[in-house]
Parts: sequence; structure tokens; C-alpha cells
Amino acid sequence: MRNRRAALAAIASAASLALTLTACGQNSEGGSEEDKGGSDGATVGIAMPTKSSERWITDGANVEKELKGKGFKTKLVFGEDDPDQQVSQIENMITQGVNALIVAAIDNKSLGNVLQQAKDADIPVISYDRLILGTENVDYYASFDNEKVGELQGGYIAEKLGLKDGSEKGPFNIELFAGSNDDNNTRYFFNGAMKVLKPYMDKGQLVVRSKQTALNQVTTLRWDGGTAQKRMDDLLTSSYRSAKVDAVLSPYDGISIGILSALKSDGYGSGSKAMPVVTGQDAEIASVKSIKAGQQTQTVFKDLRELAKVAATMVDAVLNDKKPEVNDTKSYDNGAKVVPAYLLQPVSVDKSNYEKVLVGGGYYTEGQLN
Ligand code: GAL
Repeated sequence: MRNRRAALAAIASAASLALTLTACGQNSEGGSEEDKGGSDGATVGIAMPTKSSERWITDGANVEKELKGKGFKTKLVFGEDDPDQQVSQIENMITQGVNALIVAAIDNKSLGNVLQQAKDADIPVISYDRLILGTENVDYYASFDNEKVGELQGGYIAEKLGLKDGSEKGPFNIELFAGSNDDNNTRYFFNGAMKVLKPYMDKGQLVVRSKQTALNQVTTLRWDGGTAQKRMDDLLTSSYRSAKVDAVLSPYDGISIGILSALKSDGYGSGSKAMPVVTGQDAEIASVKSIKAGQQTQTVFKDLRELAKVAATMVDAVLNDKKPEVNDTKSYDNGAKVVPAYLLQPVSVDKSNYEKVLVGGGYYTEGQLN
């Protein structure tokens, strides 16, 4: 096993086991965790950002399941969206002697010191879903094609409004929301969406009445739905007293739910005020139900079962001195190095295909969506 701590522990434990056996004449049933070699007995620390969103709970459970299936032990922690708490959780896991770390960062720039501690203890680190920035001590990145996520959201809006294929339709009113500014994914999602939407904005077919079009004007700290609801309330008050909003770019289901609450309070979705096109991401159950009910329009499904497999396979390879499979060695420069990545493909989901993709694909049962 690659991990120096584990190797030292194995030597120490083998020595103490030998002493115990000599002294007591007992047999060595079960042995020590470490002397089984390979993945057996090695412990992987998993740091997830929060339990406030369904997806990270699912991620935690999936990653544990995959690792246990490969013979690893796991320690799973959630950081309550507090960067300091996440740093001390990771520190604790390093002190406890985990052999590898899988980390979905809360604040992508807050982990430099603690990951140096991991490096000093020879603990490999997999950046999970969100890229950790500004440190060389990230071995691999397991995620989705994040720019594609944004393209699917922007493309969906363009298609739903009938703008695609050179149509002169419009102008339509749109408002833009982005994720947390301390999450590296945020700019990928936003840039991907803007790649599609900006040409229509430039031609005047899409109009942002609030004029808030720069990323730093539209971010939502910690992806918080309540924060998004408040901003949507403010936008409706400031820019839509005499106009209707036709589309809202939302990067994530929790944000979409907040936006929809503000829209409903303003009378959208009843009478002549049709709900705008509202995008999302993660296919969380509440949002799929909302899509079924004709409120949220779309979400982007990322199969977390596959992401967990990728992360667990990476850990397994690294701890066994093998090179994990990657499919991207250019896109994810974290400022200190280009982190080799395995990127999965996201899928756009709306009312027309949620059954096929989510139920047919075994991700949810029909019952969970009722
Ligand atoms: C992002 C992630 C999204 C969404 C969001 C809020 O980093 O890629 O899928 O979950 O965080 O949790």
C-alpha cells in the first residue's frame, strides 16, 4: 500500500501482534486491519459539504457503498456549509490516520493548509465534484462536464422560447442566477449557459431588465434557496411591475425552488401569468415533483451513482500504486496544476423524459416522485 502511515502502522501492528502471540500463545484470528494488504483494512475519509441538500447525502451514501464494496472502511463527515468546520473535520481525519481522502469542498480556496498536512502524511486526495483550487496537493478530480451542465440549461431556455434555428422571436425577458462564488463549478455552469444565451442577449431577443448580467452580480452564496428567493422578490419588485419575466436561468434545484416561491407569491402560475421557464440541476426529488406539477421546467440530471464509482475506483487505484483512468487532462487548472480528471456526462431532464431517464434508469422509483 502506498500510504506511508499505513505501512508504518502495519509494521507496528505486526510487531505488537507477534509480541502478543509470543506472550499469550493465542492464535491470530482476524489479524490486524493493515496486514491484509491491498484495500482491505484501509480507511477512506469522505468530506461532504452539507446535509442541507439531498444530493450530498446521496453522494455520501453512494461513495461509502462503493468503497465498502471494494473492501475499504470509511469515515463520512458533512460540513454544514461552514468552511472552517470542514477544515477541522479533514484535520481530524488526517490525525485519525485515514489512508485517502475524498473531498467535496465548501470553499474551494480554504483547503490549502489542511491538504498540505495530508500531503505530509502521504494521504492522496480526490477532489469530488467541485475542484479544490490553489494547491498542488490534489491528486485527481472526479466530476461531470460542468460547462456542459450550463450549456444544457441555457440551451433549454433558448429552445423553449423558440429562439433556436435562426428564429427572430422575442424579445423575451430573462433573469440570471448563478451558484456560490466560492465554488469553482459556479463559473463553469454560468459560462456554459452564457455561451448559449449571450448571442440572443446581444441581438436583443433576450432582455435582462435588471441589467444584472455579470457573474459577480448574480451569485448565490452557498447555493442557498432562501437567498435566491429574496433576490427574485427584489427583481420582481424593481424590474417587473409592468412587465413579465419569461425565463429564469437557475443553476441548481435548491435555488430554483426559492425562485419559484418568489414567482408564486407574485401571482405567476395562476390566471394569465404563466410560469416562466425555470431551469435547475441535480434532479432532486422536490424539483422532479415540481417539474411533474408544471412549475419548475427543467433540471440537469447527474448520475451520482456513477460519480461515486469513479471516485472509489480512483482511490482504489491510487492506494494500489496504479494510475486511475482519466478522460480529461486539460480543462481543470486549479491555479497550482492541471488536475487530471474523469468527467461524466450530464443529461437534461424535463416533463417529457423524467420517467425514461430517472425512473427507467432506476434512479428513483415512481413512488418516490408522487
Ligand atoms: C455544485 C454541484 C451542483 C449542486 C451545487 C449545490 O458544486 O456541482 O450539482 O449540487 O453544488 O449543491
